[in-house]
Amino acid sequence: MPECFRSVLERLDKDNELLHIRKPIDVRYISPLIVQADKPVWFHDPISFDIPVVSGLYWKRDRLARSLNWPESELGVRFPRGVQKMMDPVTVEEAPCQEVVKLGDEVDLTELPIPFLGERDGGAFISAGVLLARDDEGVVNAGVYRLMYRSRNETSVDLVTNSDLRRCYEAAFKRQEPLPIAVCIGVHPFEMLCAAFKAPPGVCEMNIAGGLHGEPVRMVAAKTSGLPVLADCEIVLEGEIAPVGWTVDEGPFGDFAGMYTGVRWNPTFSVKAMTHRRKPLFQVIQMPWENAWLGAVAMEAQILEVLSAAGVHTVAVRVTEGSACRWSVIVSIRKRAGGGKNALMAILSLPDTKHAVVVDEDVDIFDAEQVEWAKTFRVQADQDVIIISGAQGKHIDPSVRAWELPKGQLPTTSKMGIDATTPEGISPDHYEIITHPFRDKVKLESFL
Ligand SMILES: Cc1cc2nc3c(=O)[nH]c(=O)nc-3n(C[C@H](O)[C@H](O)[C@H](O)COP(=O)(O)O)c2cc1C
Repeated sequence: MPECFRSVLERLDKDNELLHIRKPIDVRYISPLIVQADKPVWFHDPISFDIPVVSGLYWKRDRLARSLNWPESELGVRFPRGVQKMMDPVTVEEAPCQEVVKLGDEVDLTELPIPFLGERDGGAFISAGVLLARDDEGVVNAGVYRLMYRSRNETSVDLVTNSDLRRCYEAAFKRQEPLPIAVCIGVHPFEMLCAAFKAPPGVCEMNIAGGLHGEPVRMVAAKTSGLPVLADCEIVLEGEIAPVGWTVDEGPFGDFAGMYTGVRWNPTFSVKAMTHRRKPLFQVIQMPWENAWLGAVAMEAQILEVLSAAGVHTVAVRVTEGSACRWSVIVSIRKRAGGGKNALMAILSLPDTKHAVVVDEDVDIFDAEQVEWAKTFRVQADQDVIIISGAQGKHIDPSVRAWELPKGQLPTTSKMGIDATTPEGISPDHYEIITHPFRDKVKLESFL
């Protein structure tokens, strides 16, 4: 059987990488405590709730890597292996996520310890839900979407951005039919990562998760709709997105870029059933870093892919924390003449990248000082900086001034690439780094 959310927690615990807080805790204090903790936290006793909370698994690059059980430097390299080795899920008859079944009026979302994530958020948000829905071709789509609590059996669902779930909803809305969905909470990190990735049309993200596990993901039919849900997750909410369109206020929300997005208009999700393990755990994904790092893996994988298509020999790729792990990219390459510029054009052709720096392979891209050195001593701004105007932008970046646009118009952005590889014609001798004489022979300790 593949690992599940619980077995990941057991593994982290064994490695002393999980903090247990057993004192009673007000759920309003979960967010500030996650921000301070140096490990993921298991809150055993949220006051007034019977369900413990686990949060912070993906707060930093190294924590995400540990949860996935992958080397930190290989996030973007490992992910495509799942795409190459996709496996269809298997259907099981009985599942841990259905040990307890609550239908209709028994559903009460106030049983869940849903915290406020950001101080100015418009409500409490379920942030770790993988939403499953069938598209018109019958393919099951998985995506991660925030759900703002509204009442004991209703949340909002954020469908503002173009996404596959939005496509499924638009089709149902056109027919004026509700869209059945299921929300799985407390899933394995592979399943979360794949749901956060936009798979090519016709591909279910859980097939990629199977490829990462090396065995099929286990699914079971939802009690009310028959939709396949993740058998080994902690909690499932079953229900439908009403064909009301984008009519209900949702937000503000402290989003993954680290800033608030304002009130939006969105549809609602009516919860018809809640099923869960006998003693379930409730996962909270804390903004901004847990969301940002989950997105980073697919970003790095996409960059590697586009560089490979451009014939660039890539050594390492890194999205930067300051850019919410998305807008700004540093790449090291084994360069052929002109290769720095080719690499920049490839990276900047992606819709989400905005700034890119390319360095030679002698520069450690995880060392900010070394990258700064290359930008200083290998760059002439008039020759090595590329600026592209009017490319696709994202609303969430305030510098594109999306609020000045007519309703429905997409923003554009300018992009910048810095070729910080050694300029052609300059001998490597000019970059010889100083070393200190007798450094291997003379040790300070022997003179103290
Ligand atoms: C924790 C987390 C929360 C997310 N919340 C949202 C959201 O509320 N709305 C949205 O459009 N995308 C959100 N995303 C991004 C989508 O999950 C991502 O774009 C995914 O590829 C969408 O899948 P789909 O297009 O297959 O439906 C979130 C991602 C993560 C990791």
